[in-house]
Amino acid sequence: MSASRSPLGTGDGQRRLALLRRVVEDLSAESNLDRVVETVAELVSEATGADACFVHIVDSERRELTLAGATPPFDSLAGTIRLGIGEGVAGWVAMTGKPAVVRDKWSDPRYLYIPALKGEEFSCLVSVPMMRRNQGAVGVLNAHWREQREVTEAELDTLEDVAKMLAGAVENSLLYKRLAEREAALASFAGRTIEAQEAERRRLAADIHDGVAQRLLSLSYHLDAARAANPEEPEQVSKELDSAMSLLRGALDEVRGAIDGLRPGVLDDLGLDAGIESLARSLVGVNTRVDLEPIALSEHLETALYRIAQEALQNVARHAKASFVSVSLHKAEDKAVLSVADNGVGMAGDPPPHGHYGIVGMKERAELVGGVFEIFSRPGEGTRVVVRVPIPN
Ligand SMILES: Nc1ncnc2c1ncn2[C@@H]1O[C@H](COP(=O)(O)OP(=O)(O)O)[C@@H](O)[C@H]1O
Ligand SMILES: [Mg+2]
Repeated sequence: MSASRSPLGTGDGQRRLALLRRVVEDLSAESNLDRVVETVAELVSEATGADACFVHIVDSERRELTLAGATPPFDSLAGTIRLGIGEGVAGWVAMTGKPAVVRDKWSDPRYLYIPALKGEEFSCLVSVPMMRRNQGAVGVLNAHWREQREVTEAELDTLEDVAKMLAGAVENSLLYKRLAEREAALASFAGRTIEAQEAERRRLAADIHDGVAQRLLSLSYHLDAARAANPEEPEQVSKELDSAMSLLRGALDEVRGAIDGLRPGVLDDLGLDAGIESLARSLVGVNTRVDLEPIALSEHLETALYRIAQEALQNVARHAKASFVSVSLHKAEDKAVLSVADNGVGMAGDPPPHGHYGIVGMKERAELVGGVFEIFSRPGEGTRVVVRVPIPN
């Protein structure tokens, strides 16, 4: 433990300040997270005399850590090393939010040997969490030394400070990425909405032409016939009027049907839970279990969830060959969670062939309202669609 290998020892406030300043400069000058992470790893290793420095970032959806950057030669491994939360020292630090100082890794139960990271070359490891207030760790910063050494409180403090700064940058870049995804979903959704609108207009025109207009035309013939009928033959008159009445009812049904296709009126009449229930119950030959909690949602969230449920159930009817489907809607913290699960044939992970917009559309609808869409399916093991949308307060 020579003094030169401990440049951030107690009393070395100047160097510590210089490091923090350079990290701040770097974070504000560079918006590309990968490069930020890379440079910070180098700054830390330079300032602490560490022989290698790694930055792992938490992917909260996949519940794992990914190596995002490191000092050379390990920088080439960025993106290739993944650890579960709780796995290895970095996983433990991400899980507990506590720093770890490991001097004897082979006897430390948290240590996980990953050949590519050449753990055998290093004797001392410090791992600190990148903490965000109220959110736990968004990543982990690891420093490794070849030689055995003491790690001072001051060094640990410094590493934790650097990690906190990195946490802010990571969080910003994640928010930015999410925003960019929503923007892309919005653009693609807008395009498809216009196409859908055109298709909808054609459908409406066809519905009106083939259905309503035809019925109204024959209705007018029957009324003409009633007027022209001999008043001495009231039976003839009432027969024509009956036919006219029945055509009128048919036309009314057609109009209602056409309007329903445009906007699910059931949402206004019955609410989302009953609306989804009636969709589920209308599946033929499939046992349904529904567990739907009435949740107060804005109109556009209701429409989004209704349309997603409708498409998911249509897919069950068209593709799944299922005997059972379970539909649930409930509130979990500040999210509404909709799930549609069938016990049908399932599908392989291949992207759907061109021209199939159901799954894409469900995903876009969910993302458009800030939600997350997931589909779990394997051949022979059924399909489950899960949508989580945030409920604004
Ligand atoms: N519940 C399901 N069970 C089995 N296969 C499904 C299910 N949902 C979707 N699929 C498969 O995924 C494909 C794409 O679905 P989708 O995007 O909704 O388009 P479409 O329904 O028009 O085919 C379907 O053609 C079908 O092969
Ligand atoms: Mg479909």
